[in-house]
Amino acid sequence: MKVLITQEEIKKRVEELAEEIRRKYKGKELVVLILLKGAFVFAADLLRRLEGVEIRCDFIKASSYGTSTESSGNVQLNLLPSLDITGKEVLLVDDILDTGLTLKKVKDWVLEQGAKNCETCVLLDKPERRKVPFKADYTGFEIPNHFVVGYGMDCAERYRHLPYVAILE
Ligand code: XMP
Repeated sequence: MKVLITQEEIKKRVEELAEEIRRKYKGKELVVLILLKGAFVFAADLLRRLEGVEIRCDFIKASSYGTSTESSGNVQLNLLPSLDITGKEVLLVDDILDTGLTLKKVKDWVLEQGAKNCETCVLLDKPERRKVPFKADYTGFEIPNHFVVGYGMDCAERYRHLPYVAILE
């Protein structure tokens, strides 16, 4: 395993992202939907820096069947938030933007529910891998096309607890 992004680099970047989001939504209501499972560590660090934003928080889970490192492209939503998002401003938080299929599917679903607006925030982006055009509103780091683990991301449920992002070789 090779460290790609250190704990210190993540901390600094998460602070910057949170500041950008805080500036935009300060004093406003914001529904934050965290994509399970991979985004739970990132979201926990990010949300604790969003003081002053009126946050309601819920979870959503999408899965696409395939191998452990390659998505099949058939994205299904299999855990939906219980919060009513009609007319709300929504921020989707995910660990990594890869082909774009997951966030596109989830964002389309959020807007279909009648949300007022839906922004997206990802820790990592692998632009080379995109299959559908998708740009996150807030991106932590662009990375090359490697399978990464740590800071919430896994391989067969391992490595999620690592405080850094590493390339699984
Ligand atoms: P798509 O391709 O739909 O994928 O943009 C997004 C989801 O795929 C998972 N993913 C990864 N998980 N290391 C991981 O642990 C990776 O390098 C990786 N690339 C994609 C992840 O769940 C993400 O939300």
